[in-house]
Amino acid sequence: MENSSGVYAVTDRLVIRQFGLHDVQSFYQYRANPDVSRFQSWEDYTYEDAEAFVQKQMMQSHDQPGTWFQYAIALAESNQIIGDCAIHTLGAEPRIVELGFTLAPEYQGKAYMHEALYSVLDYVFGSLNKHKMIAFTDVRNEKSIRVLERLGMRREGHLLQNYMSKGKWVDEYQYAMLQSEWLTKRH
Ligand SMILES: CC(C)(COP(=O)(O)OP(=O)(O)OC[C@H]1O[C@@H](n2cnc3c(N)ncnc32)[C@H](O)[C@@H]1OP(=O)(O)O)[C@@H](O)C(=O)NCCC(=O)NCCS
Repeated sequence: MENSSGVYAVTDRLVIRQFGLHDVQSFYQYRANPDVSRFQSWEDYTYEDAEAFVQKQMMQSHDQPGTWFQYAIALAESNQIIGDCAIHTLGAEPRIVELGFTLAPEYQGKAYMHEALYSVLDYVFGSLNKHKMIAFTDVRNEKSIRVLERLGMRREGHLLQNYMSKGKWVDEYQYAMLQSEWLTKRH
């Protein structure tokens, strides 16, 4: 549950918290990196895009049906943002949420995202009491696939030409986890 300082979860090394204006520069730097955006919807990301995005997130409430909410992932010892994850509460069925995630390149390969998402799954299935979490990934995005499978998410489908990315239709895998599966895994 969020506390008064905008913190949603704390792990050994990380804090999952609301975005602040102090995050804009670092957020811009990793979002604008072509290696980071390769399998994502955005390209040519500008500082102004980052600033507007962060300002919007600061005004928004989490878990509103039909909207995405972006959580900053920060180092516990310095509060430095290293990435983010986002939860989309489906408009037609708010007991199902979709997950997205991004890590700055210099912080990859250290299991930070695994640690962050493990606590996010606890939060989603515990505090938010959601029924199911889904995630879509470009079938070529091997790092993302490994993150999802390491968490124990199941591949539910191979969706042909499901997403327009950088002017081309791409295949996606859909991954999922049920609340009951997470509770079994946790105990
Ligand atoms: C997807 C993304 C977050 C994965 O980042 P990542 O650093 O590989 O993920 P983690 O932080 O969980 O680290 C896992 C890696 O750390 C390694 N690692 C180091 N110590 C570890 C530990 N104690 N436990 C587990 N893994 C550990 C793992 O071996 C793993 O590397 P591998 O996949 O090559 O085996 C990152 O590539 C990214 O931001 N990509 C751009 C955005 C994107 O495409 N997002 C996905 C949208 S669906």
